[in-house]
Amino acid sequence: MEFTLKQKDSKSKARAGELSTDHGTIQTPIFMPVGTVASVKGVHQRELKDEINPDVILGNTYHLYLRPGIEILEQAGGLHKFMGWDRNILTDSGGYQVYSLSGNRKIKEEGVNFKSHIDGSSHFFTPENVMEIQRVIGADIIMAFDECTPYPCEYNYAKRSMHMTHRWLDRCISHLEKLPFKYGYSQSFFPIVQGSTYKDLRKQSAEYIASVGAEGNAIGGLSVGEPAEEMYEMAEIVCDILPEDKPRYLMGVGTPINILENIALGVDMFDCVMPTRNARNGMLFTAHGTINIKNKKWEADFSPIDEMGITFVDTEYSKAYLRHLFAANEYLGKQIATIHNLGFYLWLVRTARERILAGDFQEWKTNMVQQMDKRL
Ligand code: GUN
Repeated sequence: MEFTLKQKDSKSKARAGELSTDHGTIQTPIFMPVGTVASVKGVHQRELKDEINPDVILGNTYHLYLRPGIEILEQAGGLHKFMGWDRNILTDSGGYQVYSLSGNRKIKEEGVNFKSHIDGSSHFFTPENVMEIQRVIGADIIMAFDECTPYPCEYNYAKRSMHMTHRWLDRCISHLEKLPFKYGYSQSFFPIVQGSTYKDLRKQSAEYIASVGAEGNAIGGLSVGEPAEEMYEMAEIVCDILPEDKPRYLMGVGTPINILENIALGVDMFDCVMPTRNARNGMLFTAHGTINIKNKKWEADFSPIDEMGITFVDTEYSKAYLRHLFAANEYLGKQIATIHNLGFYLWLVRTARERILAGDFQEWKTNMVQQMDKRL
């Protein structure tokens, strides 16, 4: 993997870069649509490519391990072949899902015992077997196995947990060295900074993560319920310590405003279920603010869904039609809303990149944040 910084913004810490892997080039800043179970919910791979056009999507180790399971993924020749996606994939390690989805989890130094959210069966994740599973899934970027602390989190717990995440990181690295790539292309490994909302812990964790010299670095444990200002404060402390010449990935973030604010702090990569999940509930993001398409107000509004939108659904269908699909609980409504929202998120990060390259990112961002805060 190669990361090249193309431009640094002079009025903020925003950067425009290019990240190359064996499955192509990723222009940063980037938003990665979430395809948890080998599907970006509601969007056909062909629409994803042709309309939304992301350089990279996300998969989840926890979900893919439980279903379809690693035997099937291995027989398929890896996740790219299984799902018919020949561009980049990043897999999260399960370090978040184990805590958020599974019942009766027990965290020990050795690893985490958890129960499947699907059938209640018992499983054990360790830093070692999570690396093995991610080799089989075969994503281009794979993540360290970590503990994502909740918010709020008591200081001593956050400190103990951060140190365990660091010890787990050492185990991930030494085990990966013994595991060759499976499918003829390489995989890059990203460690994850933790430390909850404590400045000293975040500093310590960022220094430790920076010291291992990975190809890219991630920031975890944010967007878990803390106020946005605290998230920005932590992201800034960490970005200032992580190496400048490596991509920085802020996990699970966030709203369009969160994304622009964190780009301004030096973050290059994002993922979040918000555009897809909120779409299924009828919430649309636009450059002028958010729309709840279920509102009666749109019943006879025959204007396009988003005349500035980049996908065909934005101009092909009206707000009134989309509202009707939601009222009638038609699948198509959720599909249209998902395509719109992902198109908007990708437009947002692409435009941020253009503005960084053009040198007026900061002015553009201030204006966009004001606009997007509105409810239409
Ligand atoms: N997704 C969002 N936050 C986190 C985190 O802290 N750890 C991991 N592994 N995934 C995440």
